[in-house]
Amino acid sequence: HVLDLIIKNAKIATASDVFMADIGIKGEQIVMIGSHLPEANKTIDAAGRVVTPGGVDAHCHLDQPMPAPIKMADNFETGTRSAACGGTTTVIPFAAQEKGQSLRDAVKEYHRRSDGRAHVDYTFHLIVSDPTPTVLNEELPALIAEGYTSFKIYMTYDDLKLNDGQILDVLSVAKQHGAMAMIHAENADCIEWLTRRLEAAGQTAPRFHGHSRPMLVEREATHRAIALSELVDVPILIVHVSGREAVEQIRWARSHGLQIFAETCPQYLFLTAADLGIDNSYLGAKCICSPPPRDQKNQEVIWNALSDGLFSVFSSDHAPFNYESPEGKKPGGQEVAFRHIPNGIPGLETRLPLLYSEGVLGGRISLTKFVELTSTNPAKAYGLHPLKGTIAPGSHADLVIWDEKPITIQNSALHHAVDYTPYEGIELKAWPAMTLSRGEIVWDGQNFHPRLGKGQFLSCGKPTLMTTGR
Ligand code: URP
Ligand code: ZN
Ligand code: ZN
Ligand code: ZN
Repeated sequence: HVLDLIIKNAKIATASDVFMADIGIKGEQIVMIGSHLPEANKTIDAAGRVVTPGGVDAHCHLDQPMPAPIKMADNFETGTRSAACGGTTTVIPFAAQEKGQSLRDAVKEYHRRSDGRAHVDYTFHLIVSDPTPTVLNEELPALIAEGYTSFKIYMTYDDLKLNDGQILDVLSVAKQHGAMAMIHAENADCIEWLTRRLEAAGQTAPRFHGHSRPMLVEREATHRAIALSELVDVPILIVHVSGREAVEQIRWARSHGLQIFAETCPQYLFLTAADLGIDNSYLGAKCICSPPPRDQKNQEVIWNALSDGLFSVFSSDHAPFNYESPEGKKPGGQEVAFRHIPNGIPGLETRLPLLYSEGVLGGRISLTKFVELTSTNPAKAYGLHPLKGTIAPGSHADLVIWDEKPITIQNSALHHAVDYTPYEGIELKAWPAMTLSRGEIVWDGQNFHPRLGKGQFLSCGKPTLMTTGR
């Protein structure tokens, strides 16, 4: 037969259109879209169901070495398994440079951790934490040319943060070589100063994590990141934007014609500061991430900024730490002060179902906007489009068939290696009925179908995302 597989009667959604057609797949690729396709070895009837491109999760952390005794719960096997069962077929975790380490060695180390261990496709963002002359003049340009075309810069965290001069140096390399720089925007000195004051007052329960990083520390750093980007005249993408004050800075920048892209994450739509605890309970440690979740008014601002085009990308920021673990949220087995609790929450598997349920079926965003935010734009931002991020002839057959049915999030049904989900008990209106990775069923709505080692490393092209001005 000409075709290996046909997905029949699909209601196909891309970032631009929703239309009825059959999808013809040969090997790993989509080769035809239309009606009356030639015969195939196998047919899947998607009648009545929406089919979207597989999700591209452009911000997640897998098997990233942490200071002892902390260890991430998910490696590439469990992380990509979980991603697939939630409809994500491409993940972009980070290859982090340690201070003193060559960037090249960091990349080698992450290949060692990932190659042959992924169920779906992946690539890396670099984290530049030590921009020595060798990194700036040799390693980074060479790596960009080899297809590592994006990197993250931190304005906070002692072991990762860069000062403004270093950020300008790294942004200059991004400009010169056409790479995409992502920025974690929080003011490190403000956080340290506030944390010491809280500690002096004995306020160290998880909920004080939120008090140590109020919105103004994000607002100030967002403003500064925008100014640095303007000075170098290079686009940046501000990651995990949490609420109104940061959104206002980005809106201002874009209304002045600056190419400032922005990302947000499920935690800023579905969690609030109350999830960090309303008393001194330690359970709030489960929801500690940075920036911290804000309040309901800020959730509303984030929803509006998703629908009106301010945000280009919706990622999970999956940062997997077990709760009941000496390697996780209870370092060494203790309930510790918030300063010592590893930051981050799991979310690879729930990202798409949460946004599909509350965004699309909740009437807050269109189906095309959903695809744009979760698949097409992240693929464009990091040079993977149109191989990833759309349904078109020549694209990989990475597809999600949606089942619009009530389902309650339960960690026991998820496929990551983390012992909790911050979204436990949330009632959803949809979940993937099927996920295909390169033409192979990897999730059938009930069961995971391993394809260990078939997930391939993707070399990235130059970013092709554009802002629209809002
Ligand atoms: O709290 C978070 N987000 N942890 C993950 C690391 C990062 O800054 O994205
Ligand atoms: Zn045949
Ligand atoms: Zn970050
Ligand atoms: Zn992150």
